[in-house]
Amino acid sequence: MTDFLWGAATSSYQLDGGPASDWARWEEAGRLYARHERCGAGTGHDRRWEADLSLLPAIGANAYRFSVEWSRIEPERGRIEGAPLEELRRRVEYLRASGIDPMLTLFHYTHPAWFWGFGWDRREGREAFLGFVRRVADAVGDLVGWYSLLNEPIVFLLGGYLDGCIPPGRKDFAAGGRALEGMLRCFGEAAAILRGANPDARFGIAHNMLDFAPERAHAWADRLLTRAADRFYNLALLEGMATGDFDLRMPLVGRARFRIPDLPASIDFVGVNYYSRVHLKFPGRTRLAGDFSYRDRHGRGLTDLGWEIHPAGLERSLREAARSGKPVIVTENGIATRNDALRADFLREHALVLLHARERGLDLRGYFHWSLLDNFEWLEGFAPRFGLFEVDYATLARRRRPSADVFAMLGRSFARPALREDFRSP
Ligand code: FCB
Repeated sequence: MTDFLWGAATSSYQLDGGPASDWARWEEAGRLYARHERCGAGTGHDRRWEADLSLLPAIGANAYRFSVEWSRIEPERGRIEGAPLEELRRRVEYLRASGIDPMLTLFHYTHPAWFWGFGWDRREGREAFLGFVRRVADAVGDLVGWYSLLNEPIVFLLGGYLDGCIPPGRKDFAAGGRALEGMLRCFGEAAAILRGANPDARFGIAHNMLDFAPERAHAWADRLLTRAADRFYNLALLEGMATGDFDLRMPLVGRARFRIPDLPASIDFVGVNYYSRVHLKFPGRTRLAGDFSYRDRHGRGLTDLGWEIHPAGLERSLREAARSGKPVIVTENGIATRNDALRADFLREHALVLLHARERGLDLRGYFHWSLLDNFEWLEGFAPRFGLFEVDYATLARRRRPSADVFAMLGRSFARPALREDFRSP
């Protein structure tokens, strides 16, 4: 059995908010689906981080994926705050001392609000990001061995530039293609900076993958739409990571093509964020290309966000991701539910998929459950409950859910301590 990262994932904004971020402005402007929700101080993790991080060894985790909120480190362009960087160092040291491998994300949807005076398609924007990466490298680079550097670039493209439901809230596919290209161009340079601080560090992108199916199995238009969606949403980024050639084609909407020749060499693993399957129907009532919906085809019930629970889709996503030729890590997988028995089933069923994939020889190196504790879900606010630990938002108390025991039990079949031993000591 190979070594395996077994952990939980969070993101900084979702735990703690970030008053100087574009997302906080987005909330102020009433742009969330939950229009009146504000993240504010979130789950109060900032003051409770030590207790929260101590939950990881308590549930048998050997790894933790989390993110750094750029807007706290550089709330105004060029004004660097030392305190959050020192705090970050303390957290990473604490994790390491508890036998937990940190995996760090440097882009998890949010930007400092000032960033949009530049943007990813402009050199100044990219330089600013790389400046932030340098600060992180100086602060903790020597202690971090894993980076899921960018989170869900395709979701950022679709939400930020097509649907306009997340910052920067545009509806301009061509501009989105340029932003995506700019962001991905930073990857190699960012990885090189961080590798300078730890030559053994490994880098990947956390890629959101969905399983797609035709609404009407025999309708050719639905099937075509399904194939196009799979290509655009799932495969184009995987291909780009493997070859450096990107070709994102959305029928009737647009196409973005670009080449980043040095990208494949700087990617050590493919991160897969998998949650659900969607059914597609052509033509759509409200959208040009088609309608998508979640169906409860297997009678497992839908999650509190209305998503289908479909473990077979994870299997397919892993297979597609592995075709890139890189090792695969599940960087997110989880369920929004107040019915914790459903979460326990979800965990067991998805872990079974991991086990089968490994038995078939797929090079799978880890699994991160979303999420360690309940947190602020981007557009829906605090209602969705993704945590292995419940947060009581009136008192901010944490309570272990029974599914955390299932997570711990499953971890015993996956995780081995050897993984920690091959990690260089500071
Ligand atoms: C993913 C995001 C993560 C969380 C889950 C539910 O797409 O990366 O931050 O919101 O969805």
